[in-house]
Amino acid sequence: MTQDQKKQAAAEAAIKYVEPGSVVGVGTGSTVNYFIDALGRIKERIEGAVASSDATTQRLNKLGIPVLDLNSTGDLNLYVDGADEATRQFALIKGGGAALTREKIVAAASRKFVCIIDDGKVVDVLGRFPLPIEVIPMARSYVARQVTQLGGQPVLRQGVTTDNGNVILDVHFAHIENPVGLEERLNHITGVVANGLFARRGADVLLIGASTGVTELSV
Ligand code: 5RP
Repeated sequence: MTQDQKKQAAAEAAIKYVEPGSVVGVGTGSTVNYFIDALGRIKERIEGAVASSDATTQRLNKLGIPVLDLNSTGDLNLYVDGADEATRQFALIKGGGAALTREKIVAAASRKFVCIIDDGKVVDVLGRFPLPIEVIPMARSYVARQVTQLGGQPVLRQGVTTDNGNVILDVHFAHIENPVGLEERLNHITGVVANGLFARRGADVLLIGASTGVTELSV
């Protein structure tokens, strides 16, 4: 089974969490694209979706799924998104697609976060994947110096401007033993818009696609 087939299996398994008549929060990335396609097949059964990026908005629009403003929906029952890395304790690294800030907002406003991944993304300790941090452009060098003091090695993601007009620093941390603590410390650096650690508000459900099928872990 290829990695894409595992992603697709995890994405399709998330459809059972979609409640009739609901508004669904939708993440960003290649795994979520499979979920959007599956959502398109049941679009008559939902009211619409809240998108976490311009790319997701476009894909939802293409399939005729109404895209709603989070300011008018109130809290959502369900958010479905992928991740770049996940522990079995439901902490995540996200932001490989540079959409982490809006993803974090929709996740925060949702009662249940179902995370869909392939089994190659499950780790014991976060940190193999460099941690994306969205930064206000004029603060780029300042934030880079601050994260270096925290033990990280920042690299500016070349040629990328986020949907919010900011830049991304990809920061290599060897082992993130305390994801909640690091998430909070990074949040306190002036100029950081959001960081890709989803630990304070991690996933509630992990759907892990593997050759043997989809494993489901719940908080
Ligand atoms: C985008 C994300 C994605 O969820 C993450 O990068 C996983 O992407 P993919 O499903 O393409 O592997 O956080 O900002």
